[in-house]
Amino acid sequence: MREGPHLFDIKDNTLHFDGVNLIQSVVAKFGTPTYIFSENAIKQNLLNLQTAFTSQYPQTEIAYSTKNNMIFDFSAIIAEEINYFETTSLAELLLVEKLAQQMKKPLNLISTNLFKPDGLIAHIINFGSQITRDKSKEKMNGILAIDSYQDMKNIERVAKKLNKKAKVLIRVNTGIQMSREKTIFASAYPDAKCSTIIKNIQSIIDLSQNDTIEKWLLKRTHIPKYDFAERIIQEAEESEHLELLGIHGHLGSQVTNIDYFHHFFEVITLFYKLMEEKLGRNLSYLDLGGGYPVQYSITEQVPSIEEIAVSLTQNISRAKIAPRLIIESGRYVTASSGLLLSQVNLTKENPSGGKIAILDLSVYSDLLDVIAARWHFDISLVSNLPEKKDQSNKYNWDLVGATNDTLDQMTPINNSGNLDIIHHSFPRDLETNDFVVIKNAGAYTTCFNSNYCGRPKPMIVLIEKNKNIRLIDRNYW
Ligand SMILES: Cc1ncc(COP(=O)(O)O)c(C=O)c1O
Repeated sequence: MREGPHLFDIKDNTLHFDGVNLIQSVVAKFGTPTYIFSENAIKQNLLNLQTAFTSQYPQTEIAYSTKNNMIFDFSAIIAEEINYFETTSLAELLLVEKLAQQMKKPLNLISTNLFKPDGLIAHIINFGSQITRDKSKEKMNGILAIDSYQDMKNIERVAKKLNKKAKVLIRVNTGIQMSREKTIFASAYPDAKCSTIIKNIQSIIDLSQNDTIEKWLLKRTHIPKYDFAERIIQEAEESEHLELLGIHGHLGSQVTNIDYFHHFFEVITLFYKLMEEKLGRNLSYLDLGGGYPVQYSITEQVPSIEEIAVSLTQNISRAKIAPRLIIESGRYVTASSGLLLSQVNLTKENPSGGKIAILDLSVYSDLLDVIAARWHFDISLVSNLPEKKDQSNKYNWDLVGATNDTLDQMTPINNSGNLDIIHHSFPRDLETNDFVVIKNAGAYTTCFNSNYCGRPKPMIVLIEKNKNIRLIDRNYW
């Protein structure tokens, strides 16, 4: 597996992140709680992703999934490296347009949301036409991933009104066996709310060389009249106002089981082949969505992107197709590039014998996935670290947020109402005013910040390549 950027270091008994002393350079200037992002790490994560896929299959584009961390300065770093963005709203689209304008760089956009208002559809069809670029005459593409039959009809109607052809992908649901318990953000099981199911799974079974396919390719219990992929693809192909570019699929987010990737890639590549045969022509794009996982804690095992890329290319070559690939990614690019620095407000005895440290954050607004997805984040002490020989000591603490809410604690609560993992361990006992960092806090965090319980939103700072640290604004408009 490729090494990630070397982000953490201990010098002068203090934790450093990307070469920066967190106490002297961040706490002293910005206080806490503060998200800290590293430009080096963002770029390294993107490079890892790009290399893993393009070394296997050169015709691959990486698209940044903007919603997971919709900060302009952050997206600008990403736009230096890639040309595609995946968006779900007008606000994200405007961000990408502004990036293209300021950077004088043609950018392409894939819109994947399940409902697209008319104004948004029109803007995507005309995407880039308002922008004047000095250097390049290259065209910017706005591509709509059709999510349902009605969505297609809406897009067709708006395109007709504009007297244009909308570029579309059809978002299909492979309908494979996935454990919702383990894959919280799974979205490739048949009754998922996004995308439309593949109706004829027998033709996929017949084409597959895999004896086990019937075990995990789920039977369709109900076949919708309109909302199935084959019908939408056929109608899109025949429409005067739609230009069918290819197929889109999305397995889920933080998919940690490599078998799910194998199965998803097998079904979607065979379906792509079948559709090319049915239409009697080659399609151009296969967009595989996101879901490329991050190792949140040391004990967790996740498949590497290299393994995932190998699985994908094997399935492409078995299906004998040659599409341009799009890999959409949010979490993999951002999670490990950011952390959340927090201070212990006070400590308290736990009535069951443990020790509680109250942090100056709220998981509701600052780390929602602890509640929404029962994530367990790794947390480290920042200052007055003990000597090396004592760093493996374990002092157990319950870390909680500063609001009165029961769920506002760093330990996820499971379905039976118990705490999944009781403690966080530190090499010495915590004290009031200590600083801790929550690692891998860069994805799906800043975008959920709110003023819940009247709390201010954390600051967001960026460590630039030259180690300059600057405040970045979460609002770009
Ligand atoms: C269509 C689509 N693409 C990409 C993503 C990004 O997923 P991730 O952040 O896991 O890479 C999502 C997120 O759920 C999505 O719905």
